[in-house]
Amino acid sequence: MHETNVSALMEREHHEIDQAIEHFVAGLSEGKLRHKDLARAGDLLKRHIYVEEELIFPTLRAKGMLAPVLVMLREHGEIWRTLDALDLEVGPGTAAEWVPDRCHQLLRQLETHNGKEEPIIYPQADALLTDEQTATVREFLHSGTMPLDWVCAQAPNG
Ligand SMILES: [Fe+2]
Ligand SMILES: [Fe+2]
Repeated sequence: MHETNVSALMEREHHEIDQAIEHFVAGLSEGKLRHKDLARAGDLLKRHIYVEEELIFPTLRAKGMLAPVLVMLREHGEIWRTLDALDLEVGPGTAAEWVPDRCHQLLRQLETHNGKEEPIIYPQADALLTDEQTATVREFLHSGTMPLDWVCAQAPNG
């Protein structure tokens, strides 16, 4: 496996996102509200979904992977809903008492989702994206910023 494959890069982000959420939850259990971790997880996760929906999935759909991509889009919508809930439940200096549960819900959703994406979707991305498309994904992951008002295809308020 090449380190710069789409699959390797995207799987690395899955781990970074999980770690940021886990670090935030660990902080809560010590009475610390580490906003930065939550913001980092949320920003990274939304941008990750943007890359999938805008730069990776269209090619997979065009090459016939309709059903698996639709499942991923639906799950992105559910993940987005959980992120929206967390946004409301964590304010400056305060967090609702069920925020750890909400974070665990998010981690479970991601585990289920990534557990399909990694074996089914990403290998196809490695195989089907052109070198140019792969380079675009790589560059975006390195330094790209998604449009501020972008929401995923099946976001609750999209
Ligand atoms: Fe995804
Ligand atoms: Fe992903």
